[in-house]
Amino acid sequence: METIQALLTRRSIRKYKNKPIEKDKIEIILKSAMYAPSAMNLQAWHFIVIDNKNILADTIKSIPHAELLRQTPNAILVCGDKTIEANESWMIQNCSAAIQNVLLGAHALGIGSCWIAIHGIEDVVKNVSKQFNLPEDVVPVSLISLGYPDETVFAEERFKEDKIHYNKW
Ligand SMILES: Cc1cc2nc3c(=O)[nH]c(=O)nc-3n(C[C@H](O)[C@H](O)[C@H](O)COP(=O)(O)O)c2cc1C
Repeated sequence: METIQALLTRRSIRKYKNKPIEKDKIEIILKSAMYAPSAMNLQAWHFIVIDNKNILADTIKSIPHAELLRQTPNAILVCGDKTIEANESWMIQNCSAAIQNVLLGAHALGIGSCWIAIHGIEDVVKNVSKQFNLPEDVVPVSLISLGYPDETVFAEERFKEDKIHYNKW
């Protein structure tokens, strides 16, 4: 898929076919994530690949706003490692770049995805850390649901001239 076309057509997909994603495609998606930019190239991220329906169902208890996981075949939990990147803001920015690469890598392969918030919701961070047995210095940033799309989503026009400022505000 051509890059700009991929950027403009990626949408959050929340309904998936009941078909697991092939291992080699998950690997391409993870590789895409690991080629994201990171501050000082520290790559302070970890990825927990979830391919077990019971674990996905349990994750709804940890992330109550992630009801879509009930019919999601795969997911990736993106975590930041504070022992590698002590600056929390950069850690989140690095992980966010990796997350966006996951969304775009998946889209390029015809796989739908949705970014599910964790970081910033204290109870959810605690629940997820406990459920996935994360070390103390590893912070769950977001979960990404993945699956072959069972819906088509189009975006409204998003290009807005009034969001653009040249040289100063
Ligand atoms: C930081 C962040 C957190 C998000 N959390 C959720 C979430 O918890 N649940 C969800 O369904 N979508 C979530 N989204 C997806 C947004 O709702 C979605 O990107 C937005 O509505 C724009 O739609 P699009 O992705 O189709 O362009 C999140 C997106 C971001 C960037």
